[in-house]
Amino acid sequence: MDSGTGRAHGKAILLGEHAVVYGAPALAVPIPFLTATARATRVPCPDDGGEGISFTIAGPGPAASAPLPGDGTRQMLAEFREATGFSDDLCVDVVVDCAVPQGRGLGSSAACARAAVLALADLCGFGLDAATVFRLVQASENVAHGRASGIDAVATGSDSPVLFRSGVVQELSTNFEGRFVIADSGVGGSTKEAVELVRRRFEHDAQAKEEFVSRASGLTGGAVRDLEQGDLAGLGARLTENHVLLQELGLSTDRIDRLVAAALMAGSPGAKISGGGLGGCVIALAGGPGAAEELGRTLREAGATRTWIVPMRRLASHVD
Ligand code: MEV
Repeated sequence: MDSGTGRAHGKAILLGEHAVVYGAPALAVPIPFLTATARATRVPCPDDGGEGISFTIAGPGPAASAPLPGDGTRQMLAEFREATGFSDDLCVDVVVDCAVPQGRGLGSSAACARAAVLALADLCGFGLDAATVFRLVQASENVAHGRASGIDAVATGSDSPVLFRSGVVQELSTNFEGRFVIADSGVGGSTKEAVELVRRRFEHDAQAKEEFVSRASGLTGGAVRDLEQGDLAGLGARLTENHVLLQELGLSTDRIDRLVAAALMAGSPGAKISGGGLGGCVIALAGGPGAAEELGRTLREAGATRTWIVPMRRLASHVD
């Protein structure tokens, strides 16, 4: 075979971002319609003995941050070679068509890395198990985020909402009827900078770290119960409380705060920043499909550059 393909998709974090880096649980939903598709094609090797594998990312720009940092892909490839015995004298072009917007906290770096790993494995005829794919994506993510919990590496390949804690994944099967409206603030943020900002904040304040992790853990645990019980108001209140925690750490922006306020004013049960922060997206809860459409309109009027609606169900049933 001369070419291979791999696919992944975006994700949104409902609760627990940043705290998850310190061992707290976090909840994420897949965004199936924001896809990353990679094609790996065997090409003639350059005469000068240069790099055997090249990566190109195609997709909506401009980029706030490159989705796959050069060091990250090198690390990922080194691990790929180790895991598969992939030979150095094979030359490959990998092109990733990435519809996941960059720098918006929607998992573009993990989705690109996952799609690329799967395309390379497909080209070489390797059937990689889930743990190996996770490890290879994490090799890139640890460079992209500085320190990555692993939630993006998992959620960008999952069919279901996931509860993630310290590398342990629980796929949630829920009949929760609520919808999430994701609203792009139009300004990108760097997850790496955000993770570093939090690290520095906690470096000399162990108590602040403990409090943040414990409060975020409580909110995520409560949200799992809300989802089981279909408690829209309860879940919404926890989302907004989680926003305040992230805001207190300096991870929100004026634009994001305005969008959160607009969502709440419009009757959303709860809203928050989602993902790394310092820009990016807001995630706001809505009841049914009609309420979600209406909330999306309100958020665009309040300055969101685009909105998406994500249900809390398995992927197979939410390609609608
Ligand atoms: C980024 O989507 C989520 C963070 O918690 C970083 C991570 O978990 O790797 C900010």
